[in-house]
Amino acid sequence: MNRSVLVAPSLLSADFTRLAEQVRLCEQGGADLLHLDIMDGRFVPNITFGQPVVAAIRRSTTLVLDCHLMIIEPERYVQSFVEAGANWISVHVEACAHLHRTLQTIRSLGARAGIVLNPLTPLEYAFEAAEYADYVLIMSVEPGFGGQQFIPSSLRRIERLRQWLDRHDLAVPIEVDGGVSAENAADIAQAGANILVSGAAIFNGSIESNIATLRQKAMAARA
Ligand code: DX5
Ligand code: ZN
Repeated sequence: MNRSVLVAPSLLSADFTRLAEQVRLCEQGGADLLHLDIMDGRFVPNITFGQPVVAAIRRSTTLVLDCHLMIIEPERYVQSFVEAGANWISVHVEACAHLHRTLQTIRSLGARAGIVLNPLTPLEYAFEAAEYADYVLIMSVEPGFGGQQFIPSSLRRIERLRQWLDRHDLAVPIEVDGGVSAENAADIAQAGANILVSGAAIFNGSIESNIATLRQKAMAARA
């Protein structure tokens, strides 16, 4: 597996009154992807934004847009998110009845397809789906809100998934989302994560230096 660790700012913690500027700061600050949290008020107790906002972000950046769909029946919406400009789309295994078909649909639309597991969802879902997915997103908080505490048992889940993927020669990146900060980035990278999503820890203070710190901690752990 590639040793590099990508940093994906989650725009959930950005200042929405000046979204284009915040996106630009992420881009200039060295973000590898932009993580966009789509919540429906059903699968999670919060509502964020939909396709029009994704399309507006698309017009303001060339960065890869990583859309994390926290919505029930995500298969109903994947096409419209790709049309809005999403490059990567991940769906929750808990919210998607026909995962194989949905992953195929996402790929057929030209996007990368990811699966997401909530903090206590058995890893076996990822074992079954990994060969049909372009990445696996491990939630390290219950989805719905930014700024929550990292759930410590997530570390051993990342480790176990990384070992399983390596054993099966599957070069599938592991993305980690929720409570990622400078304090735990090294441990998360060490456990085998490839992509770190971070909201509160990036948008609180200087975006550029927060991205640099996260990357440096993660890469040092990989060296
Ligand atoms: C939570 C979202 C996350 C969240 C991460 O439901 O999926 O992407 O924005 O934010 P922090 O890093 O603040 O936990
Ligand atoms: Zn997310």
